[in-house]
Amino acid sequence: MIGKEIEAALNNQISAEANSSHLYLAMASWAETRGFEGVSNFFYSQSDEERQHMLKLVRYVNERGGHAKAPAVNEPSKMFDCLTHVFKIFGS
Ligand SMILES: [Fe+2]
Repeated sequence: MIGKEIEAALNNQISAEANSSHLYLAMASWAETRGFEGVSNFFYSQSDEERQHMLKLVRYVNERGGHAKAPAVNEPSKMFDCLTHVFKIFGS
């Protein structure tokens, strides 16, 4: 059984992974609508990867007697200035 403090910390990380996944989805969609197919595929795949991180933590918390929460996610920017801007955010 995991303690409440660890459960809360892992739920915070679950939220961070969900928000990363959502941000990369926004970047993928932005790139796709501008014809940057390779960049778009890259960010779709990054988005999937972050979701997998989130799911691993969800399963981990629940398997150890905690309760993983499905977090609210922030709405990412719909607009990016350019590819450089996208990759600056990605790298930060
Ligand atoms: Fe992650």
